[in-house]
Amino acid sequence: MRPKILVTREVFDETLEYLREHCDVDANQEDMALAPDALMKRLADKEGVICSLTDRIDAALLERCPKLKVVANIAVGYNNIDVPACSARGIMATNTPGVLDDSTADLAWTLMLGAARRITEVERYVRNGEWKGWRLKQWLGIDVHHATLGIIGMGRIGQAIARRAAGFDMRVLYHNRKRVDEEIERKLNTRWVSLDELLGKSDFVVLQVPYSPETHHLIGAAQLSKMKRNAILINSTRGGVVDDQALISALRNGTIRAAGLDVFENEPKLNPAFLDLDNVVLAPHIGSSTEATRCAMAMTAAKNAVAVLIGSTPPNLINAEAIRS
Ligand code: GLV
Repeated sequence: MRPKILVTREVFDETLEYLREHCDVDANQEDMALAPDALMKRLADKEGVICSLTDRIDAALLERCPKLKVVANIAVGYNNIDVPACSARGIMATNTPGVLDDSTADLAWTLMLGAARRITEVERYVRNGEWKGWRLKQWLGIDVHHATLGIIGMGRIGQAIARRAAGFDMRVLYHNRKRVDEEIERKLNTRWVSLDELLGKSDFVVLQVPYSPETHHLIGAAQLSKMKRNAILINSTRGGVVDDQALISALRNGTIRAAGLDVFENEPKLNPAFLDLDNVVLAPHIGSSTEATRCAMAMTAAKNAVAVLIGSTPPNLINAEAIRS
């Protein structure tokens, strides 16, 4: 019998074609996130699920899905999945590392450049017909070139962000739980510093750590107060790494200059106070959203799921413990 798989959100046709070669596919191509009850109902008889960061895969759900063997997330982050609960049931969980590093790094840079040169403010100004002519002091921004970039989280995406800094002649500092190999530090022309030193010395602080209880509100009022007054904070990783209310106060009070945000606490219901601030560039969690990258992510998730369903180890297994348990 062919294994049954649920695809919780709209994916590309080629993803479905590939899955259909191997499985009976129940696809929610309407692209509305399934409510928890509907998700439970549709997943109850499935061996696999292709899900996204908008689906909460928790112990209560897994309890009701006795046949489930694989949870394949279409994302590199997997804080939407209770991984220990998967492992305890021998369910393999997978993610999509590697294929989105460059696109996500590009978006972090888009936010850096956009916030530095006030691109969303000036776009609104031009569209509103307010532009009456050139002035020397018009819409002054700050330079990205030759500035100091501080990257918090030096995994694959952090490194891709650092690589791009060479073209802007930037000084690059980083903070990570573990120092990366000296060879990588040399290639990226970067050095490890404490979090406080990074906050105190950087003109641009970019967050690229995964979200976890340890990184919850890693940047709050105390950390923001250690940043330069002219600094710009970029969050292109996960909502919750920044205390959004503290950031709003810092942007209002001039504690820091500006921010560029692709992710928010409680997204998509972001704190409405952000909408009243001019010194923040806002994006709707599109870090990896290019045609090629989102397609590659969906296909990576499909391949991970099929690997499990045909009895092999998936390329991007998060929980090796699932095999042992
Ligand atoms: C997107 O946010 C991802 O984790 O891939």
